[in-house]
Amino acid sequence: MKKVGVLVSGRGSNLQTLIATAREGQLGGEVAVVISNVADAPALDKARAAGVPALVCDHRGQAREEHDRRMLGVLREHGVDLVCLAGYMRLLSSPFLAAWPHRLVNIHPSLLPAFPGLDAQRQAWEHGVKVAGATVHLVEEALDAGPIVMQEAVAVRADDTPDTLAGRILEAEHRIYPRAVRLLLGGRWRLEGRRFIADPE
Ligand code: GRF
Repeated sequence: MKKVGVLVSGRGSNLQTLIATAREGQLGGEVAVVISNVADAPALDKARAAGVPALVCDHRGQAREEHDRRMLGVLREHGVDLVCLAGYMRLLSSPFLAAWPHRLVNIHPSLLPAFPGLDAQRQAWEHGVKVAGATVHLVEEALDAGPIVMQEAVAVRADDTPDTLAGRILEAEHRIYPRAVRLLLGGRWRLEGRRFIADPE
């Protein structure tokens, strides 16, 4: 059974979807451990309610590399094959990134490369795009910039607010993140330059 580790900082709805998909036998692996850098993140309760080991690695008062080294130790103890960022709100250090070549993945609430960074749904709404969406991508040094694994477009409606738009983008996130993780764990894909190519099913 392939093992997934999930890093979180907040709500944990993507985490919950990954856990639920794994429980249904549709993820191609199990969520083996959850790490939060925030002690009272609701994501921790969601993991524990599902019986998934959930730990706090508080980043405060620690150098980034030291904090990341602790997380790396926990992930290795649990035999993790793939690390998923799911609302993890900190930059990762180079040694951590180097430990997971092509085995570290993130979900971002925009159609990258448009609107990287914080509050992407509001950025898209304020810009006035007609099509927004969500992106699952491999994580590299540059923020929100690694090879794109999967995307789903979300049409922007005239009466959308940033919140209503974010709500529909979140639904798209919950559809593509489990599918992308399953694809990555299955191993039937390759990179050509920065293009992620999945084998035909
Ligand atoms: C999601 O919008 C995700 O795309 C972004 O952070 C948010 C996390 O939400 N990276 P949740 O904690 O999974 O509910």
